[in-house]
Amino acid sequence: MHPTRPSTTAALVAFMRALSDDGLCSAQGFRDPIAQRLLPLEWAALREVARRGLRRSLPVVRERFALELDAVALRSLALDEPLLAALARGVRQVVILGAGLDTRAHRLEALRAATVFEVDHPSTQAHKRQVTAGLRRCSANLVFVGVDFERDALGQALARAGHRGDEPTVWLWEGVVMYLTLPALRSTLTSVVAASAPDSDLVLHYHEPLERDLEAWAMNQVLSVWREPQVGQRRRETMAALVTEAGLEVVDDSGQADWARRFGAKASAGPIARQSRLLLARQAATLR
Ligand SMILES: C[S@@+](CC[C@H](N)C(=O)[O-])C[C@H]1O[C@@H](n2cnc3c(N)ncnc32)[C@H](O)[C@@H]1O
Repeated sequence: MHPTRPSTTAALVAFMRALSDDGLCSAQGFRDPIAQRLLPLEWAALREVARRGLRRSLPVVRERFALELDAVALRSLALDEPLLAALARGVRQVVILGAGLDTRAHRLEALRAATVFEVDHPSTQAHKRQVTAGLRRCSANLVFVGVDFERDALGQALARAGHRGDEPTVWLWEGVVMYLTLPALRSTLTSVVAASAPDSDLVLHYHEPLERDLEAWAMNQVLSVWREPQVGQRRRETMAALVTEAGLEVVDDSGQADWARRFGAKASAGPIARQSRLLLARQAATLR
């Protein structure tokens, strides 16, 4: 992460969700009307250019582009499912780790009785606070917590912000752990487990490495220029072992093809889609 500038990848995925909301993705039921309102100016301008260009382009170009957008739209739908299930059974605390320009607190009516804690790097969060200042919120409360996972203790910061470790929490961690070193991932997982009362869920999106893949290599070069290289791509077995070692039980691990079937889209062929996995874990004590 750049130490003083907001995350560029946070803007990129919000840009993709905004274009998806413009009807340019193929995932059924994806909506994110708030995404475009949070975009930095240059990304808002790029959205206009992309929208106009794609509307005028050949169907084959639009279809190819839709598959790329699906990579982010499908993962967003896949994360919403366990979140909505947890809220439906009465969980009232949601912690979004590395929230970036996540719009859930402003678009999900199901959060009306919940407190959302958005945890993020302070430089990204400064922009988020600014752009959400006048927006109508869906969640009962929204609390911003500035944390650098590489340096700060998550547990203390959350406790100071009012998070209750003795009440269940659903933890969302989307598009973040691929940017984290192993010590940062381990210490954050330890803090998550320590602050998880029984009936808490962890919903963790991660990227697997792709061997000898030119597209994935090229993408990581761009991310390095943005000072956000994906230093933390990890295999399924490694992620499951780390989560288990921290004290949680893995109950599901799904990927793009599963989500495409579930949400009526074609499975995308792009690198983000091929790398993306979603791990669902519970407090081991909850399962017994
Ligand atoms: C690709 S964005 C994902 C944002 C959001 N979760 C989403 O899916 O739209 C990566 C996010 O991770 C955050 N991040 C990266 N490294 C971090 C660190 N060391 N500490 C805190 N946040 C970090 C960035 O600020 C950014 O918001």
